[in-house]
Amino acid sequence: MYFAGVDIGSTMTKVVLMDTTDRILSAIKGPTGPEHRQLANEVMRMALEQANLQLDDISYIVATGYGRVNVPFADDQITELSCHARGVSSLFPNVRTAIDIGGQDAKCMKIEKGKLVDFVMNDKCAAGTGRFLEVTAATLGISLEDMGDISLKSAKKIQVSNLCTIFAQQEVVALLSRGEKLEDIIAGLHDALASRVAALVRRLKVEPDVVLTGGVAKNIGMVKAMKENLGCELLVPEEPLLTGAIGAAMLAKEIHIKAKAEGETISTKPRLLEKATFFTEKIT
Ligand SMILES: Nc1ncnc2c1ncn2[C@@H]1O[C@H](COP(=O)(O)OP(=O)(O)OP(=O)(O)O)[C@@H](O)[C@H]1O
Ligand SMILES: [Mg+2]
Repeated sequence: MYFAGVDIGSTMTKVVLMDTTDRILSAIKGPTGPEHRQLANEVMRMALEQANLQLDDISYIVATGYGRVNVPFADDQITELSCHARGVSSLFPNVRTAIDIGGQDAKCMKIEKGKLVDFVMNDKCAAGTGRFLEVTAATLGISLEDMGDISLKSAKKIQVSNLCTIFAQQEVVALLSRGEKLEDIIAGLHDALASRVAALVRRLKVEPDVVLTGGVAKNIGMVKAMKENLGCELLVPEEPLLTGAIGAAMLAKEIHIKAKAEGETISTKPRLLEKATFFTEKIT
């Protein structure tokens, strides 16, 4: 038996296929864009290909994330928070505090025995999310992926006062024209973003183990800044974008196995994939 988790995030879409032993058979991610439905089909098609499976082989499929209602072949939709809590707990069983910084929101979850018990979220303002770094990287003319390494060279942290993404761009340009070093400016930006997320996290009692997930956790400069602002050790999964989809696949397995054990017939959606007509090359 196989199970699938589909996480349609505001910026990246992720699919994970898993077997009954929780082994990940394939994991695919691609930029979300406007066509959620088509992209869900295309990312699922590539995940099945990678695992050498057909959609019919998948016993149960759970969709999550901002666009979870747009997955036509999903048997169920479960909130990101529950899926992240389940996914993070499977990777770090002693997790009590999970912080997810995604493309357009940041969320902090309190977890007990693998279950979500409380949460806080910022989905109102891009200043506390990946979007802030994406826009700033473009302003600085550097790639998002390089921001972390560059910032580690910094010897002087610059205070970036503007937390509004738009005004921060003007401030960054002013700092550059004042001759401030790129690495110092980026380290300052990381600190500004981390202090904002840390303020959100502190609204819940921060208890170890503390795990950082979401695409922004791929930025080592941000991981460092979050540790400094929270004043605690942080655990980061190897693939921090996948925890939502991993959790969704695990919940799919649990729902299916529980229904079987109780002799319930479980309804599933038609196992049909629709043809997508655009930009598959950006999917990895
Ligand atoms: N290699 C990288 N280095 C730095 N940042 C990255 C990298 N890869 C992705 N990101 C950031 O992570 C974001 C995507 O992360 P993630 O998939 O967790 O977000 P999402 O689930 O789409 O968003 P949300 O949860 O807010 O709806 C991108 O928008 C980008 O800002
Ligand atoms: Mg997300």
